[in-house]
Formats: sequence, C-alpha cells, structure tokens
Amino acid sequence: MANIILKKDWEISENLATPESAYFRRREFLQGTMLTSIATLGALYGCGPSTVPNRLPEIKWTGTEKSLYPARRNSEFEIDRPLTDEKTAGTYNNFYEFGSDKSDPVHYAQKLNTRPWKLEVAGLVNKPRTFDIDDLLKAMPIEERLYRLRCVEAWAMAVPWTGFAFKELLKLVDPKPSATHVKMETFYQPFTAQGQLAFWEPWAYTEALTLEEAMNDLAFLATGIYGHPLPKQHGAPVRLAVPWKYGFKSVKSIVKIELVDTRPMTFWTTLQGLEYDFTANVDPRIPHPRWPQNREKMIGTGIVRATLPYNGYGKYVAGMYS
Ligand code: MTE
Repeated sequence: MANIILKKDWEISENLATPESAYFRRREFLQGTMLTSIATLGALYGCGPSTVPNRLPEIKWTGTEKSLYPARRNSEFEIDRPLTDEKTAGTYNNFYEFGSDKSDPVHYAQKLNTRPWKLEVAGLVNKPRTFDIDDLLKAMPIEERLYRLRCVEAWAMAVPWTGFAFKELLKLVDPKPSATHVKMETFYQPFTAQGQLAFWEPWAYTEALTLEEAMNDLAFLATGIYGHPLPKQHGAPVRLAVPWKYGFKSVKSIVKIELVDTRPMTFWTTLQGLEYDFTANVDPRIPHPRWPQNREKMIGTGIVRATLPYNGYGKYVAGMYS
C-alpha cells in the first residue's frame, strides 16, 4: 500500500521553502523599497549596527504607575510556550523611528520623552477626549495578559503585557454608528527619532483596525511588560498588542486614535502594500512574497515552531472573517 503523507493545513510544499539561512535573515523585512532608507538611516545615526547593552535601561516609574503594579493576571490568556527572556525581548526590537537594526531602539529610543504624554481620541465619536496618560491609566481596568507575538519576518516571542482592553477606551468615547475603522498614529518628532528624517517615507507610523477588530476581546493597549511600565524601545507609554496579526500592526508610542468611516492607508500599506497587507492576519498558508510563513523562530532560544492560523487565537477572532 502506498504511503500517503497528509499535509497539515499550515504546511507548504517543500519546493516553496527557502533554505533556513535565507529564511531567517534579519533584514528581509526591509528589503526592496527600504534598502535606500537603511543606508541613509545608518548614516543619520552615524553608526553601523548597535551592540547589545549589558543591562536594560532603567525604567522611571510615575506615582500612578507605582500604584498599579503588580497587575492582576487575566487567566483567560494563558500561552503554550515559555515566556521570552526579558533582556532578549528588550534588545531585539523593531522601531524604525530609532534605527533599522534590531539592537538600535534600546539605545536611541531612550531619547524619547514619555511624560507628560497626551493621547487624543477623536473623529467619529460622541465624546472626543484628550487623555493625560496617567489619568487614563487610573480610569482603565489594568490587567496582565500573556500573549504571543508573531513578526511578519518569521520570528516570534511570548511576553506578559500589562494594560487594558482597547474596547474599554472606545466605550469612554462612544463611537458613532457611522465609524467603521480605528486609525492609530505614533508621535512625529524627527529630531528625536531620526528615522523620521527619511522624508520619502510616510511618517508618522500609522496603523488601523476595523472597529469590530478593535472591540474584540483580544485587542489590547499595552502600557507595561514584564510587570513594569513599558520600556521606550517597546513603545512607551502606550502601544497596541493584537496577537492574531503580524507584529507590524501593533503600533508603538501612540499619540492619536481616530475613528473614521473608510479604511485608512497605513505606514506599511503606503510603502509596500503588496507585501504588508492591511488585514495582516497571521496565516501560515500564505507565504510572504519573499519567504514562507509556515514556521517561526523564537527569539532567544532559537526554537523553531509551526506557525498557527491567527497565531493560535482563532477561537477569539476567526468569526470576524468568516
Ligand atoms: N510601531 C512603530 N511606531 N514603529 C515601528 O517601527 N514596528 C512594528 C511594531 N510597532 C514598529 C511599531 C513591528 S514590525 C513589530 S514586529 C513590533 O512593533 C515589534 O515590537 P517589539 O519591538 O516590542 O517586539
């Protein structure tokens, strides 16, 4: 009898697979349109790749933050793998405002002043508000959640975020029935974040979700990680965590959230829409045009795992896409 090998639905044909060495090249994400930018940004920062520091930079806590930790862990969101070591996660970052090498943001993002910090929520809402971040923290139900993060570059990590459900913030501003999408924007400070001096790129970094996605239980606004406030390289003082989508959707250091009635252009759809689509749900069956997406490498340990549809969060989110 012939030996029939049934492929799992996340497996792709072997001849589509790239050799491992090419598969996990660190800068693949930025190839193509961004190559020129890298060279220029490198020159702007006056450096080659940064080195990993011996210790992570110290976190400065505000009085409000001190009163919020340790936050209660929400046991609904357990994960199937060990947490990534904190130093690994905090020295291997994508934050292109602060350089294109993974070890740049831990150095250069420290220049960002994160207090005082205002977060404006505007657009198609009945109660537009501009929040001081510490007032917002006091008003929100702060909790800890263990989430996986799957980067489109095929690396992954598992971290404990602290923060609050996105829907809790949206409830405060009362979206109008005409609102369909939620657009989020990072600060624009080109003299602090010199990556933004690349005037040919569509800064500030913006991302967006449908309103339904933003109201989903999983959509989380993170204000902390590893039991303390967010370090700057992770997107202090507030960033998105949407673990069923590729990591580039999880916009950092947000200053504005706007509810709108059309699908917005984002940083990546403007730069390279064919490679980084708007929806960006993790899907092992659809290879990126330049590499497969059926496997992922855990940063720190190097363990390679099969990538799961919706990054394993299908029970929470698949219903939105049927
Ligand atoms: N947000 C901003 N403002 N700028 C960025 O370059 N990079 C994104 C996302 N959010 C990015 C951003 C990408 S590509 C990833 S994978 C995650 O942040 C990485 O988050 P981390 O550095 O905390 O692991």
